[in-house]
Amino acid sequence: MYLETMAKNPFSPRHPIDPAYFVNREEVLESFGRSIKRSAKSVPRKPDNIAVLGGWGIGKTSVLKKFESLAVDEFDDLKAFTAFIELNPSACQNIEAFISRTRDDIQRSFLSELPLIAKIKRELSDWRVKTLDLGIGLERKEKMMESHATSLFEEALRDLWRNILEPKDIEAALLMFDDLHYLARNYPGGLYDIRSIFQKLAMDGCNYMLFITGPETLFGEIRDFAEPFTRFFDRFKLDFFNLEETGKAIQEPLQLSGSGVKADEAVIENIYDLTQGHPYFIHFIMCDLVDYKGKGRITENFFDEHWKKIARHIEREKFEDDLFSASETERKALHQIAELHSDVVAPSEIRIRGKAEILKRLSEDKGLLIKSGRGEYKLYHPLFKEYLNQLKS
Ligand SMILES: Nc1ncnc2c1ncn2[C@@H]1O[C@H](COP(=O)(O)OP(=O)(O)OP(=O)(O)O)[C@@H](O)[C@H]1O
Ligand SMILES: [Mg+2]
Repeated sequence: MYLETMAKNPFSPRHPIDPAYFVNREEVLESFGRSIKRSAKSVPRKPDNIAVLGGWGIGKTSVLKKFESLAVDEFDDLKAFTAFIELNPSACQNIEAFISRTRDDIQRSFLSELPLIAKIKRELSDWRVKTLDLGIGLERKEKMMESHATSLFEEALRDLWRNILEPKDIEAALLMFDDLHYLARNYPGGLYDIRSIFQKLAMDGCNYMLFITGPETLFGEIRDFAEPFTRFFDRFKLDFFNLEETGKAIQEPLQLSGSGVKADEAVIENIYDLTQGHPYFIHFIMCDLVDYKGKGRITENFFDEHWKKIARHIEREKFEDDLFSASETERKALHQIAELHSDVVAPSEIRIRGKAEILKRLSEDKGLLIKSGRGEYKLYHPLFKEYLNQLKS
């Protein structure tokens, strides 16, 4: 019985959402639909690229996964090839590491249930061997010149389009780079390279479309190169859900999964008040509630009975790690910010040496602060503020 109810739990805060349960974000999805239709039919090729930006856990990866599933299932009159490239610091140590990760993920990402793609599996493995012949991804004693590496990469992608994808009548190749800020941090010139590579490929008739994610500061970090790179993307910033959207994020998975669980309107309002509509926290709370409930109606009473336990669970799983990732002085800054009455604070209100650096690290590297346009900061979530203050008392 226990296992049976666990299996029906459609909430999973630790993973991007299952595309079947994806809700909201209409604007970016519509733009995606228009882009791929337009670009597949346009001659000469003019691919549109999309950047999905936002803070920690707001749903960036989920949007890319949804794009991928739309390209395969919904736009089936379009023959698309999609590759999902998951970046992390080690895959972005230098441009060569980035290129080999891209190459490996292009290979891995073909969706085997798609007969068309299955047919090109064999050609793709030949392509991998070929890119190795070109020298991409090989361990080298001497560091390959960056410009040499990028031109080999461009050549390999041209080869992939002309000799493998185009002959199979593929109309668009969708490359999704998740967390591109890792590259921007280690090698800002890499973003500039990406733009020039894909711009040239488009001019040569290779229809690669780029979909990238990163924090809002992604384009700011590369000020020197920002202009041309920025213009290369249609940018969308993801925000917290409003009350109605929070309701959808809760009700749709409950219904579609056949969970046998229902949530009262008052419970949705409580969850909205506590989470402010942050998708990760909504899923976290719902995941626990569904586990506790098993089957039936989640009432406000049931919610009140379980909220303390769930709050502890969030602390253990998220907030303790957040604090652990901060140095001692960074923690001091976090506590000072939490104690202030106003949620938004100016750097002048914080009394710590070297605060400019500390605030920058806490917002850009660790995602624990959010920087507003006016140079003010706030903690990334009110529940985190509450947690910090509770530790003090
Ligand atoms: N559109 C959505 N519909 C429903 N749930 C969502 C949606 N977007 C995100 N979520 C929920 O929020 C959680 C975080 O989403 P996701 O991992 O996509 O965020 P992210 O911005 O990529 O996070 P990170 O900053 O860690 O990379 C997911 O587990 C999912 O449960
Ligand atoms: Mg992500």
